[in-house]
Parts: sequence; C-alpha cells; structure tokens
Amino acid sequence: MTTDTAAQAAYVVAALLFILSLAGLSQHKTSRSGVVWGIAGMVVALAATVGLASRSITATGLVLIAVATAAGAGIGLWRARVVEMTGMPELIAIMHSLVGLAATFVGWNGYLDVDAELSGSLLGIHHAEVFIGVFIGAVTFTGSVVAYLKLSARINSRPLTLPGKHVLNVGALVAFVGLTVAFVLRPGMGLLIAVTVIALALGAHLVASIGGGDMPVVVSMLNSYSGWAAAASGFLLSNNLLIVTGALVGSSGAYLSYIMCKAMNRSFISVIAGGFGTPAAAADDGEQGEHREINAEETAELLRDATSVIITPGYGMAVAQAQYPVAELARKLRERGVEVRFGIHPVAGRLPGHMNVLLAEANVPYDIVLEMDEINDDFAATSVVLVIGANDTVNPAATDNPSSPIAGMPVLHVWESAHVIVFKRSMAAGYAGVQNPLFFRENTQMLFGDARQRVEDILRGLDSLDAPVREMAGTSR
Ligand code: TAP
Repeated sequence: MTTDTAAQAAYVVAALLFILSLAGLSQHKTSRSGVVWGIAGMVVALAATVGLASRSITATGLVLIAVATAAGAGIGLWRARVVEMTGMPELIAIMHSLVGLAATFVGWNGYLDVDAELSGSLLGIHHAEVFIGVFIGAVTFTGSVVAYLKLSARINSRPLTLPGKHVLNVGALVAFVGLTVAFVLRPGMGLLIAVTVIALALGAHLVASIGGGDMPVVVSMLNSYSGWAAAASGFLLSNNLLIVTGALVGSSGAYLSYIMCKAMNRSFISVIAGGFGTPAAAADDGEQGEHREINAEETAELLRDATSVIITPGYGMAVAQAQYPVAELARKLRERGVEVRFGIHPVAGRLPGHMNVLLAEANVPYDIVLEMDEINDDFAATSVVLVIGANDTVNPAATDNPSSPIAGMPVLHVWESAHVIVFKRSMAAGYAGVQNPLFFRENTQMLFGDARQRVEDILRGLDSLDAPVREMAGTSR
C-alpha cells in the first residue's frame, strides 16, 4: 500500500470517528465518550497528514511541524484546564477566530504559491477558491473577535446601529461577488487586499449589530462559519479530510443555530442581519417602580409553608457556583413533602445545556429538571418560584412589551405563581441590557446578595425553624 492510499484510508477512519464524536456529544450522558472519539479522530488525522507531508518536506520542516503541534497542544491543554464553565463561550469564540485567521492565511498562501501545473479553467477554479476562502476566513476572524469581546464583557453587548446598516451588509456582499468575478478573470494582489479588508469589516459589523439576547445564535453561527472556512481551506490544500470535517462542523453549527432560533422565536435571517425586521427599540434599563425586599429567614418560612416550588436558575447561579446548596435545598424541601422542580430555559446561562450540566454535577435527579415548554403551564399553580441568578429568561417584557429588544423571545412565566423570590446582587439588567419589570411586580420580592451565600442562609434558616420541632420531639420521648 502506498503512503497516499494509507493516508486516504486513515482519513476515512478519522471522518467516521468525528461522526461518532458528534453523535456522542448530542446527549449529555454520552458526551464524555463523544469527546474521546473526537480526540481519537484528531490523532489519526494528524498522523496521516504528517505522514503524507513527510514525502515532500525536509527534516527541518518536520521539526517545525512537531514544535507547532506541541505548542498548540500545550496551549489548548492549559486553557481547557483553567477555563471556568462561565468562560466557555468566550473561549469557543476566540478558538473560532483562530480557525478564521488560519483560513485567511491558507487563502493568501494559495494566491502567493500557485501550483505551476494549474492552467485554464482549473486555475480559474483555484482563484475562486482562494477568494472565497479568504472571504469566509476573514468574516469568521473579526466576527469571532467581536463575539469574544462581547461575551467577556470587554465591550458593551448592546447592538451597534449604524445608519443604513443593512445597506452596508448587502453592499459588502455585492462587492464580494463582483470582486470574485474580477479576480477569477484577472487575479491581482490589489483585489485580494480589497476583499480581505471588506470581509474583516463585514465580520466585525455583523456581530457588533447583534444584541445581547441573540448572542447564543451568534456563537453557534460562528461555529458554522468556522467549519465552512476550514472546508474552504481543505479545497485549497486538496485535503479531503479537512473538507469533510469542515462540512461536518459547518452543517452541525448551522443546525444548532436553527434550533436556537426556534427556541428563541427568532428568524435566522433577522439574527444574522442584526435585527432585520425586528423593532429597533432602545434598551430600557431604568427602574420601573418600587421593588420589595425579603431576607433569607423570611424566605425559609415561606418555603416551609409551601406545597410546590419551582426553581429557575440562570447565569448568576453559575457565577456564584450555587448549584450545590441549591441541590441541597431541593433535597431538603422534598424530604418535607414539598413538590420541587426545576424549570430550564433553553438559553439560560451562557452555553446550550449550561444549567443542565451544573445541576447534573450537583446530583439533582434528571426527572425533576424540566424544559421550559414542559413547565410553563404549571407556574400558575405553584406556591413559590425561586429565580436563582436568572434575568432575561424570566423577563415578562418579552411577552408584554412589543417594543422591547427581547420581544417575542419565549420566557419562563414565573410571575404567574403566588410568590416569586429573585436572587441577585443588585437591580442591574440582565445580559440583553433590558430592565426586568418582574422585579417590580406585587408578588415579587428581591433577595439581594451572592446566590450561593443566600441559599446557604436559607438552609440554615430551615434548620433553625426545625430546631424547636426537633427539641419538642426529643422532650416528649
Ligand atoms: P442573565 O440575563 O445573564 O442575568 C444573570 C443575572 O445573574 C444578572 O442579572 C446578575 O444580576 C445575576 N448574578 C450574577 N452573578 C450573581 C451572583 N453571584 N449571585 C446572584 N446573582 C448573580 O441570565 P439568564 O436569565 O440566564 O439569561 C441568559 C442570557 O445570556 C440571555 O440573554 C441569553 O440570550 C444570553 N446568552 C446565552 C447563551 C446560551 S447559549 N445560553 C450564550 C450567550 C448569551 P446582578 O449583577 O444584579 O447580581
């Protein structure tokens, strides 16, 4: 068997391992094995690619590849070990930016180092691949950098609304098509520089125009773009595995974006065009009346007398790492005969499934963790709802106020219950930058402070409420 045949066979094995990996990652229970399949696929892919390349490169080249692989693996291991769960979206965004940058470089290299054997229509196809690869790569690069800056709160998450922003986006796309035709007919560095600059500006503008509430879709959309950028590089490098892998990432990212859009009642086009067709309302983060406060002891009393409790966690639970005391609180209340369930919004936190992972980590039984659609009709018959560090996902403005930036996004109907206790540290707005009228409702009380500390205070409060009962039981024996 020649090296080429062996490498192509290894590529088929690697592609199958990547498909197994995606299947594993689709479910929480099998996600660990999904990661292992992915690592195995990448090891096979790297070994086959280096084996293939070793025929045509020098020993120095091989050493350079080994050094680059070791450095990349080292940085990857270090980041993965130190990253907090709350920092995952921005880590993913910055990783996507590297894929975009690599695709841009591969495209430029494809222009500067044209295979001498290419001529006629094949050369035309090669130049089209160069141009498309550079365009997708550069859009992915700056789009991901802006997403990283927004997700890590280094810049404001509010949408940028330049005058005529849709005209700018469409204009950039039209210019890209025109320049591609010109480049295929008469390739030149000036045209390549022009498309790189246009794509860099378009990527930054597209993501800057998207509001905080739509960021989940942006993360999955950039995931998809990075896949297509990799596939474009695969065509330029004549690497079948890169084409297959890029297509897998591109199509699974596109499907995830579709699921996210459905969950948030958004149209895909409106999100990628930065709010096209939605009311361009200004975010209202002012106070909207009087709010009432409650302390941990009073909350413990309310819970003692409750018959049913729903807990709706959000990003603040992840920040406070409050899942462990929250799980303990659920356990204690259930022991007392209170019906306790969790209501999970599809985009609560900062990652798809973020809350489910945290609750599973704290050993909350799966059967009391319900999706938004499964629990939304039950709030009206619930005694107490504990909103633990959630904000946008429980904002009634999404259903009541058509001019709100989050209008139309499905939310948990917590306000329909008898009592709502909101755990947060201040009256600050949520991720979308929109004030929450829930905080000013008659049946809502604010429990200020770090969510973990407040839940621990409630646990102590429940214990001290139980103490006289235990003492009486002890004396009567
Ligand atoms: P958010 O709207 O992000 O609000 C979280 C709340 O937690 C804040 O209002 C904050 O208020 C509070 N908080 C922060 N640290 C806290 C702590 N230590 N203790 C107590 N409270 C704390 O939360 P959400 O309801 O989960 O909504 C998620 C938002 O993120 C949505 O807008 C969604 O579109 C967006 N997003 C989601 C994803 C995915 S895929 N899930 C990805 C990107 C963006 P204080 O500062 O006053 O404490």
